[in-house]
This record gives sequence, C-alpha cells and structure tokens, in this order.
Amino acid sequence: MQIIGASCVFICNCEFLILEDGGVAFSQEGRIQEVGDFETLKSKYPQASFIFHKDCVLLPALSNAHIHFEFSNNQSQLIYGNFGSWLSSVISKREELFFNLNESIQREIELQIQGGIGSVGAISSHGYDIALLAHSPLRVTLFNEAIGSNPQALDFLYGNLKERLQESQKFKSEKFNPALAIHSPYSTHFVLAKKVAQLAREEHLKISCHFLESQEEAQWLNEKNGWFKEFFASFFGNDDAKPSMNAEEFLGLFENLSPLMVHCLFADSALLDQIKQMQGFIISAPRSNRLLNQTYLNLERVKQSGFSPIFATDGLSSNFSLNLIEEIRYAFFAYPHLDVIKLAQDLILGITHFPALALGNDNGELARSKLADIAVFECQGIKQSEQKALHFVLHAKTMAKELYLQGEKIWKK
Ligand code: BEZ
Ligand code: FE2
Repeated sequence: MQIIGASCVFICNCEFLILEDGGVAFSQEGRIQEVGDFETLKSKYPQASFIFHKDCVLLPALSNAHIHFEFSNNQSQLIYGNFGSWLSSVISKREELFFNLNESIQREIELQIQGGIGSVGAISSHGYDIALLAHSPLRVTLFNEAIGSNPQALDFLYGNLKERLQESQKFKSEKFNPALAIHSPYSTHFVLAKKVAQLAREEHLKISCHFLESQEEAQWLNEKNGWFKEFFASFFGNDDAKPSMNAEEFLGLFENLSPLMVHCLFADSALLDQIKQMQGFIISAPRSNRLLNQTYLNLERVKQSGFSPIFATDGLSSNFSLNLIEEIRYAFFAYPHLDVIKLAQDLILGITHFPALALGNDNGELARSKLADIAVFECQGIKQSEQKALHFVLHAKTMAKELYLQGEKIWKK
C-alpha cells in the first residue's frame, strides 16, 4: 500500500468535494483503496509508504480527450482567423507538415506526461502515431480516423482505415484501446461514414468526430452552398459538389454508440438534443475555436441540453500548446459572464471526471476501486484559499510535480 497526500485533494466527483490535508491510499495493483484525511490514512495503514506534498493539489490524472499528435510539427505554417483559410492551408501544407514527424510526436507525448495528463483520446489520421503512443506510458484511446468525400475512393479509404485499425489492435492492452473516428460530415462521404459507424457497433469500439465546427460547415450541410462549394471546386475539381448528408442524417448514424462529438459550435438545441438522446459527449477545444472560428462554445446552452462539457486541446494544427492547465486557464477568461467558482469547477471536471466517462476509462475521480491515475500540481497557498478551484485554475504550475498511472509513478519534476 502507498499513501500520497497533499494540502488539497480535489476528489473530482460531481459535487466537487475538496479535502484539506487529504490523501489517497492505493494498492500494489494500482487501484484506490481509500480517500480521506492524510494522518488518518497513515494510522489506518501503518505499513504503507507515504509522501505528503505541501502547497500542492492532488487530483485525478488529467485526460485530454481530443488531440492530434500527427500535427505536432506545426508552429507557423497554418493560417488562423478564418476556418476556410485554415482548412485550405492544411491541405496545401499537408506534405511538409509530416516531415520528421516522430521527434515532434515524441516531444508532445513527453509534454503531455509532464503536464499531468494520464489519458489521451488521440485522433490518428494516418497511423503515424500508433506505435509511438502504444510504447508510451500514456493511457491511450487511439481513434483511427476515416476521411474522404470522393465516392470513387470509398473502398480504398475503408480498406486503409481497416488496416490502421488492425495495426492498432496489435497493441491492444489495458492501457491502449483502439477506436474509430469519422473526420466530419463535410469531409467524409455518407456511405463511408455509415460503414465506419457500423464497424464501431460490431466491434464495440468508441467513436469520435468533429461536428459543426464552423459556420461554413453549417451552411454547407443545411443550405448545400457557400464556402465549401468553392472549396470542392478548387481543391477537388468538383464543380457540382453537394453534401452527401445533412446534420441530422449524420447524427442518425450514431444510435447507441455514445459518440464523442468535438466542437459543436454551430449545433442548435435540436441537434444537441439528438446527441444527448444517443448518450453522446461534447468536447470543446476553446483555443482552437478562437483561432479558427473566432468564437467559443456556448456553455450555458450545452449545459441546458444536459451535457457536462469536456475540454481538450485539439492538435498543434490549431493551438500553440497541448497543455491542459493552460487550456482551461485561457478558457476561464473566455466566459466573463459565468460565475467564477462554478466555471472553474466545470473546467476542472471537464479535464478529469467527464473525459474519463467519455473515453470509458475507470479513472477521473478519486474514489475507492478507481484506477490510481493521480496527478500532483504545485499551487502555492492553496490551503488557505477560500476559492480553491478558481485559484487552482489561475495558479497551478502547468508542469505537474508528479504523475501516477495505475499506482506507478511515471513522472516526477
Ligand atoms: C476529402 O478528403 O474528401 C476532404 C478532406 C478535407 C475536407 C473536405 C474533403
Ligand atoms: Fe480536432
């Protein structure tokens, strides 16, 4: 048995319970035995080894439920400020973005770990990240992604997806979970998207997709015209392009799949209700949304529809760092009309409790029998704070002091 304690323990249950001078006792197998007062745990388990972190917050290891490691090379190649310009720049710079990629992926894996992130939901478009992630200490849900709107290429694209899925399945373990992604309804033909959803159903795989990230996508799916019409003509030589589905038809593919829906910036309440009915999850990437679409997800509307929002970084294609503490610190300032304490709590639960549910991981909350996936962050003066969640969002060091996965220490500053 081991006991880790800290000046503050964020349990990360829905009530946002906080313990002062608390601790977590966990077994050799890496499961939590008990959470409580540090000194009480010490006397209850006198044989246990123990460590106490003063001026620190101990909480579940963070989960970054939407990240593209394959875009880790980008720093200044892509255009920001307008979704259409960004997408065009991604397509134009595709080749050069993948040059010498392994080093950048490895660097970002290490930065995730140093940032206290234990679990990732990695969108893999080409399979370049599979082996690197499988050999990393991270807990990984590897979403093999399908993309392609050309009806002539669908068999090839589906075959390629299945090859990547099989490659990822070779690494399947308790910590590495192969899954599927459909890039988006504007970029993936309905026939291909339907086959991928069916595959997820048959093989009991998690599924994720980008949905209504831009006004351009909303106009294309709803009105069948606008910026995308031009885009398909100039990039794909298709002067008569039409969307292969509308937004409702796309969502209709995910019955009983509890999909992870990313962005949803332009989803109205009816579409949000449709996602809720199939027990889907909503993931927001605030800095990505600001850079590409000049807006943020309407959290009040999403919560009114019954969702608990999840926050993630997306990839370096639309962000300048993949650190989750930084992500929620920036996000906090994007919602000046929301109550400071409730927002801070929602942001912290959105990188712990709720992404764990979406990814199907048995972590994200400090409770008996959960996995001992635990992070410790320095946060000077946190014990005397009367607004602990808020002060954590503002002041926690962005690099974790320690990170444990299944009870094993995988990072120490
Ligand atoms: C395609 O591969 O068909 C595609 C890619 C990006 C945007 C739209 C379509
Ligand atoms: Fe993304």
